[in-house]
Amino acid sequence: MPVRNRFAELLPEIREWRRDLHMNPELGYDVHRTAGIVAAKLRDFGCDEVIEGIGRTGIVGLIHGRAPGRTIGLRADMDALPITEATGADHASTVPGKMHACGHDGHTAMLLGAARYLAETRNFAGTVAVVFQPAEEGGAGAEAMVQDDLIGRFGIEEIYGMHNSPLLPAGAFAIRPGPFYAAVDSLRIEVRGKGGHAARPNNTVDTTLAASAIVMALQSVVSRNTDPQQPLVVSVTAFRTDSDAFNVIPDAATLRGTIRSFDDATREKAIADIRRVIELTAASYGATATLEFDEVPYPVMVNHDAETVHAAEAARAVAGEVKSDAPRTTGGEDFAYMLRACPGAYIQIGNGPSAGLHHPKYDFNDEIIPTGCSWWVELAERRLSA
Ligand code: NI
Repeated sequence: MPVRNRFAELLPEIREWRRDLHMNPELGYDVHRTAGIVAAKLRDFGCDEVIEGIGRTGIVGLIHGRAPGRTIGLRADMDALPITEATGADHASTVPGKMHACGHDGHTAMLLGAARYLAETRNFAGTVAVVFQPAEEGGAGAEAMVQDDLIGRFGIEEIYGMHNSPLLPAGAFAIRPGPFYAAVDSLRIEVRGKGGHAARPNNTVDTTLAASAIVMALQSVVSRNTDPQQPLVVSVTAFRTDSDAFNVIPDAATLRGTIRSFDDATREKAIADIRRVIELTAASYGATATLEFDEVPYPVMVNHDAETVHAAEAARAVAGEVKSDAPRTTGGEDFAYMLRACPGAYIQIGNGPSAGLHHPKYDFNDEIIPTGCSWWVELAERRLSA
């Protein structure tokens, strides 16, 4: 069955929800307005239960089918990013410095549309749990919901997620079994020397020079220390010293960056290599360097084999075809935590050509709403066929 006609009818309404969320972006766990709207709509649609406050600001809606049976989870993310929007769209963000630049507004709207349809039709046996999580963009909202017993409490036996991709044609689907999205670690490196007058560097330990050498030396972790068959990224993204003056050698410098990896052994070796490189490079300048991780790490997101097939079959039914060998992405995704707690799979839906995710000119493509909603419904009805 292709895209369902009902979603062509509902498109203007769902697009309105999406644009309202877009105009009112919220960050991290602080998604109170968004979560309030989601909970109110789910009640409006006639969901049998709506539970708020799971994983702080997460929402779960339960929709029972016409007969008892299994329970599956369908998950969307609700949070925006700390970016100032530059699309110039009529529905652009009204909040300076906050923007839905990853399409989570679209994800939330599409899952709401699917919930409405499923609550109207109930053409399945068992229970659909629609799951709306906060804090995907850092903060590990998925982990917070899992810690709040999301899976056990509702008896969720399979869980699925979907993310839009500007790299795919509008409405096309792509998926792969096994490792799909990279593990994400956030680095903070504190470098300490001995500050002093820039005119007399011989009386100082030049922190800026030591930190610069560390940035360069870190490039050897991937190129010289890692099995070339194993993907790994080490990026240094920030370099700050505690002085802003032209004539002062600072005492301290902070570097920030990220590691992206797809297996535990490569990740652990990279961390050990980074620690060695920064400590010994700093020491060679008479400075010291320490490594910290100041954000919750995201594990590698691994699609389960059987559920990947189920997700792909539903996508094929909706779109006619599906790319089932999608390339791995070095982006991270905290749905990884849900897939560690429960079998499931994560699929990409094409956003069509647009600015990239996390770009100030990115916007979710409303034209894909009927396709995304149809995939959710197709998947639920297939997995809970009476
Ligand atoms: Ni995202």
